[in-house]
Amino acid sequence: MKILGIETSCDETSAAVLRKGSVASNVISSQLIHQQYGGVVPELASRAHQRRVVDVVQRALDDAGARPEDLDGVAATQGPGLIGALLVGLNFGKATAYALGIPFAGINHLEGHLFSNFLTDQQPSFPYLSLIVSGGHTMLVHVEDTLHFQVLGQTRDDAAGEAFDKVAKMLGIGYPGGPVIDRLSKGGDPGAVRFPRAYLRGSAYDFSFSGIKTAVLYYLRDNGSLRPGMKAASLEAQHCADICASFQAAVIDVLVDKTIAASRELGVRDVAVAGGVSANSALRSELRERCAEEGHRVFFPPIEYCMDNGAMIAYVGWMKLQRGESSPMDMPAVANLELRCDRKNSEEKTR
Ligand code: KG4
Ligand code: ZN
Repeated sequence: MKILGIETSCDETSAAVLRKGSVASNVISSQLIHQQYGGVVPELASRAHQRRVVDVVQRALDDAGARPEDLDGVAATQGPGLIGALLVGLNFGKATAYALGIPFAGINHLEGHLFSNFLTDQQPSFPYLSLIVSGGHTMLVHVEDTLHFQVLGQTRDDAAGEAFDKVAKMLGIGYPGGPVIDRLSKGGDPGAVRFPRAYLRGSAYDFSFSGIKTAVLYYLRDNGSLRPGMKAASLEAQHCADICASFQAAVIDVLVDKTIAASRELGVRDVAVAGGVSANSALRSELRERCAEEGHRVFFPPIEYCMDNGAMIAYVGWMKLQRGESSPMDMPAVANLELRCDRKNSEEKTR
């Protein structure tokens, strides 16, 4: 079975071909236009997807050595994401499936991240705990079986990646902020500034990252480092690295502590991490260390599957289409689509 997967929920135009569940190609075109604005501009994202989608899909087919008529199904992201951006990939996917007379599957982007750990040979065993950390989401999910999962907690305000991006914007060090903060933190002191860690008593597995973002803002203001219009004055390089390292340490402490607490409570052996922030080197090393102490195995996808990519969408599409779960052609794009497991429906279909 050959599946084409298309992902256009934010600022990556991506397409992939999966052959019997293995990645035959995965083309990711990142939109650089947003860098000058310090964040994704939705209208520009939609237009860039529209300009690129044909070429990206063609390259994915070429890289896989496949022709359109070789495909058995098409999957595209339905949501969550930017509505105009989603519409480009979803409609392109539907049109392709319709023209080829093959089934179409609209996919939840978060389900894509959740199962991105299955795109390589290094796969967790069920049941396992998944930490999804991206620019739009931070959540802990108990994955019981293929397509069966339960959301344990999620962010109440900013996502972890969003906090990285906003802090980088305050510091004037570029977009996306995560990779820059990760790099600069290597030369900084994580104990230089004690930023708050929000553990949210009473809701063990929910997250909140807006407080730490505001704490960085107040720190910069109180140190005379903020110019009017919230633009960061050019900080001395070491000072900037110390702020990055201190901020990163605060975010990672919370992510790791909550992940370990959940894995203990569930009694799972495996922990899998997914989403753009899972590329973070400090998160990787700290979680590896803590998981080793607990006797857990920990899995991080390779970088090209951490970021938004068509392969993860094709993978979930492949699982759904194998079960006969195709989507109707009038399926809408949904900007705030939630991650929910319809266990009963899914079980009935597999019977
Ligand atoms: O999963 P993703 O590509 O898109 C969303 O679905 O949001 O994640 C993008 C996010 C951005 O916020 C980016 O700053 C963050 O992932 N990110 C990182 C790193 N690389 C990307 N955050 C921390 N450290 C990194 N190395
Ligand atoms: Zn994502």
